Amino acid sequence: MMRADVLIVHAAQLVTCAGGGQPKRGAAMRDVCLIEDGALAIRDGRILAVGKTAAIRADYAAETVISVAGKVVCPGLVDCHTHAVYGGNRLDEFEQRLQGVPYMQIMADGGGIASTARATRAAAEDDLLTQAHARLDQMMQHGTTTAEIKTGYGLDTSTELKLLNVIAALDRQHPMTILPTFLGAHAVPWDYANAEQYLAAVIDDMLPAVARSEAWRAFRAQGINGFIDVFCEQGVFDLEQARRVLLAGRDGYGMQVKAHVDEFVSLGGAAMACEIGAVSVDHLDVTPPHALERLAQSNTVGVMLPAVNFNLGSTHFGNARHLIEAGGSLALATDLNPGSAPTPSLPLVMAIACRYQKLLPSEALNACTINAAAALNMAERVGSLEVGKQADLIILNTDDYRALAYEFGSQLVEMVIIKGDAVWRRSA
Ligand code: NIG
Ligand code: FE
Repeated sequence: MMRADVLIVHAAQLVTCAGGGQPKRGAAMRDVCLIEDGALAIRDGRILAVGKTAAIRADYAAETVISVAGKVVCPGLVDCHTHAVYGGNRLDEFEQRLQGVPYMQIMADGGGIASTARATRAAAEDDLLTQAHARLDQMMQHGTTTAEIKTGYGLDTSTELKLLNVIAALDRQHPMTILPTFLGAHAVPWDYANAEQYLAAVIDDMLPAVARSEAWRAFRAQGINGFIDVFCEQGVFDLEQARRVLLAGRDGYGMQVKAHVDEFVSLGGAAMACEIGAVSVDHLDVTPPHALERLAQSNTVGVMLPAVNFNLGSTHFGNARHLIEAGGSLALATDLNPGSAPTPSLPLVMAIACRYQKLLPSEALNACTINAAAALNMAERVGSLEVGKQADLIILNTDDYRALAYEFGSQLVEMVIIKGDAVWRRSA
């Protein structure tokens, strides 16, 4: 008999999303690797064994045995694209949009990202931390156990560093696993004449300051190498500018590459980012079929953010089916931010993706677990219930995992376990 710290037994469905350290591609996205009457053993915050309850009980003993009869156990969800640290809100712009003013028009008129940057510059670091901590709590209560968080609402060196400090403090204080992304090239702020001038500041001042900051080094010390990202879009940063800033981060400081591409106008950002070895390309709302096929041939994960389309009242969504049918690897994320996606909920994102992008619940769940982990280059640590990985899992008050995407606006998450510790449970 082997000793474990915790056994979780008798799950109606234990959904592992096992990927062997790899994202799932194409037709494999329909397989969530489901074990009926499943169980798992946890020791020292890691998964020791996964299987049928009878087999696990025959081999393992633990002081804490949690019986979850009639419930689903699945991997903690991974939100691989968020802008969760910001000041202020965009409620006035919400009303403007409802009255017909387009999102990019508000940005061109000096609102949008710039308006959040003004509020974020004015906010004290402690207040940003308190607010972001509360957002992370909400994400966790919807099942998220790992999250990427971008800077990009400072748009000057000192505020970008302030955001990074907050991200590092969240990593220390919050049970979730956090990954940082430097998104200095998110928008051209009002204090610069044009994108070229601002980009020079991003590359020459911000990037070196970020790379040598204590916050960035604290992540590196844990084996987490942060990302560089850019908003490649008409009227923001063009293809050549986007490539330049991404390469500056990659080649100058060893950062991993991500990019916001093809949200409104396709500038060729998806192909460019694949070519330079991006870990993920995100949005992909208007990516042409040939570029989705090119992406499907690469090791880059395609991340779609359908809560944005929903929030902007659009009926157009990225062609997720084309990417999957071409053999690609798709992840989904919230894009949590005050402008285009004020939501903490990955189950809501799954619900939208199933209805408007015609994903099956199995594909949506893999897209929010193992594939989202791969979009962070973390598929060997999180995103599935496999031996040796972090014991990050959620217990759902349903006996069929498909309910997670079928229902919307409900709360099926009953308990959240991160690194083997129960960090949240719904009060009775
Ligand atoms: O991913 N598209 C660019 N950036 C964010 C939106 C940020 C904002 O509106 O504040 C996004 O949608
Ligand atoms: Fe984004």
